Amino acid sequence: MDVAIFSTRRWDREALTAAAARPENAELSLRFLEAGLSPGTASLARGCGAACVFVNDDAGAATLEELAGLGVGAVVTRSAGFNHVDLDAAGRLGIDVLRVPAYGPDGVAEHALALLMTLNRRTHRAFNRVREGNFALDGLMGFELRGKTVGVVGTGKIGAAACRIFLGLGCEVLAFDTAPAEDLQNAGVAFVPLDELWPRCDVVTLHCPLTPETHHLVSDRVLAALPDHAIVLNTSRGGLVDTAAALAALRARAIGGLGIDVYEEEAGLFFEDRTQQGLTDELLAQLVALPNVLVTGHQAFFTREAVGRIAGTTMQNLRSVEEGSAGACPNRVG
Ligand code: NAI
Repeated sequence: MDVAIFSTRRWDREALTAAAARPENAELSLRFLEAGLSPGTASLARGCGAACVFVNDDAGAATLEELAGLGVGAVVTRSAGFNHVDLDAAGRLGIDVLRVPAYGPDGVAEHALALLMTLNRRTHRAFNRVREGNFALDGLMGFELRGKTVGVVGTGKIGAAACRIFLGLGCEVLAFDTAPAEDLQNAGVAFVPLDELWPRCDVVTLHCPLTPETHHLVSDRVLAALPDHAIVLNTSRGGLVDTAAALAALRARAIGGLGIDVYEEEAGLFFEDRTQQGLTDELLAQLVALPNVLVTGHQAFFTREAVGRIAGTTMQNLRSVEEGSAGACPNRVG
């Protein structure tokens, strides 16, 4: 079976090529494409049994209709999140959607901690200062995490890993999830309603999926409810935070800092080297100009271990499509 692999970069071409070389994947022929999937590029999957996509590809209804017209029977995403795929349209068109449900929650939770530690202890600023021979400490004062309150929103695989990290650092961990986990409660996590969580947090970290209910979960109302020193972390999906409201809150000193690995308007921007164009996104440019903001370009998942697991599970998913058993695959969504 031929597979059109959209939005590939060197690192995932290498990992997928290595995984495809295993004997059990001999029937899969990978067609690597740099282009992202969209209604305009769907025709690149002509002759393929599956389109393999990444987080910023557009697998909305219009694209899926194009794919269905070409006889492409499956969309296989190299991600855990699947908010970029219109599941209703896929169901209607008979397109199977498969994902990589778990490839290493620790890496993402650890990246949230990296964002926090950098913002809190200003190591990004210290790095630049020391290189210029500036050893002054002004502006670098942070706080100790032990005893501070961290709010974790969404306690699935990644949120649970985050809870354990913060418990290990001696923090009080408050959490909210639509389905609270008993093992975390036993470990010392206190599940509270969201309205109770926001005002008590020194740090908030988001780990729930992006859905119509969670879109702009961190709104101007929530930003106003947070303590004015609170640091907000988002390694989940950009749409969880109303970015314009967050910029206004940062400027008004209504929150203490913002660490984001994901951005509402990241599609077409992240994963690209745009050095020559500079920062053309006005909102992002204004955010990164602030000293208490740290933005990374959707790299929380990006560890050696996770990239290898993503490639392995993606091959399994493609095999199930090739063998006609995608309908029963546990990685199928929708
Ligand atoms: P998961 O499915 O294991 O956990 C999600 C949790 O969110 C579940 O416990 C669910 O009950 C909860 N939830 C659902 N709706 C909620 C709501 N309205 N309020 C609060 N909680 C709610 O997912 P996992 O693997 O932990 O991933 C979480 C998110 O992280 C993904 O949806 C994905 O968007 C993002 N992600 C980001 C990566 C990055 O590189 N930045 C890498 C991998 C995932």
